[in-house]
Amino acid sequence: MSPFLLTRTLPVDATDAALRADVLAGLTRRPKTLPPKWFYDARGSELFEEITRLPEYYPTRAEREILVAHAADIAAASGARTLIELGSGSSEKTRHLLDAFGALHSYVPVDVSESALTGAAEALLAERPELNVHALIADFTGGLALPGTPGPRLVAFLGGTVGNLLPEERATFLRSVRSILSPGDALLLGTDLVKEEGTLVAAYDDAAGVTAAFNKNVLEVVNRELDADFDPAAFDHVARWDADAEWIEMRLRARSAFTVKIHELDLVVPFDEGEELRTEVSAKFRRERVREELGAAALRLDQWWTDTGGRFAVSLATAV
Ligand code: SAH
Ligand code: TRP
Repeated sequence: MSPFLLTRTLPVDATDAALRADVLAGLTRRPKTLPPKWFYDARGSELFEEITRLPEYYPTRAEREILVAHAADIAAASGARTLIELGSGSSEKTRHLLDAFGALHSYVPVDVSESALTGAAEALLAERPELNVHALIADFTGGLALPGTPGPRLVAFLGGTVGNLLPEERATFLRSVRSILSPGDALLLGTDLVKEEGTLVAAYDDAAGVTAAFNKNVLEVVNRELDADFDPAAFDHVARWDADAEWIEMRLRARSAFTVKIHELDLVVPFDEGEELRTEVSAKFRRERVREELGAAALRLDQWWTDTGGRFAVSLATAV
């Protein structure tokens, strides 16, 4: 059996320091915000996997359809020997890609969720003992210290996760991805597309309430890690389409006025009745915007594939 390496580039206490800084900054401003990476503790990663199987949450199925249809094209066009995947989660859809790469040397899944990474790496190695899996616990918005595996490199960023970054964050992120590529290396990018409002809102506000539980899980993370007393039941889950920004905005709305104590920060946070805490945006794209944003980061859009329903797109871009 080939090696399975798990490298932590986020020291355990750096996560803690970053969470403190984010919670302090986010809950003392108006409107209040919390950054989405804190959704994904072990429970959050589990809830996200449940979301991917919901009837309303079409992006996972649409993206899988595209990857199945074009895995061979992607493998042939990139000729990659190392596949790096950012925000890899369960690596479930990635299996279709791995199957198409004949000469892949290494797979490098990168995620903040240790439980998702170990689960994915164990499942992959059970099926593909010859693959080098070098899992990296890291924040993909920070500098990435990648293992010295052979090129060419293909970086995959799937699930529409790029839409969870704000426009300026996205520009910085795409330039940092470009900086780990050599000319001729490639980026495979999954983006959800602008569509009719009802379909979008339902995907982020499902009938079974799984997305609501996922959204509220960020409060449980703050309770546990920073000794806070958020009552998740005191908030309603809100998913709203912003037609100007072309993104879905996820919020938690206080059902009444109350205060929350965050003991580890010595902080008391007042909420007004109806006050909303923004937890996440999920931007939806059009082809031209993807092409422009990639171009601004010296990435040339070479291929654009959509599912048969035209709901989701996967782009293949080459570093120039
Ligand atoms: N790629 C998978 C999972 C998408 S969910 C799919 O398409 O189904 C987003 C994933 O990104 C989660 O696994 C989450 O833990 C991870 N993630 C979110 N923010 C991150 C960050 N800043 N750095 C690294 N991983 C992050
Ligand atoms: N990348 C996923 C998306 O934007 C993440 C996601 C799905 C999500 N459902 C969510 C994030 C609900 C917060 C709340 O589709």
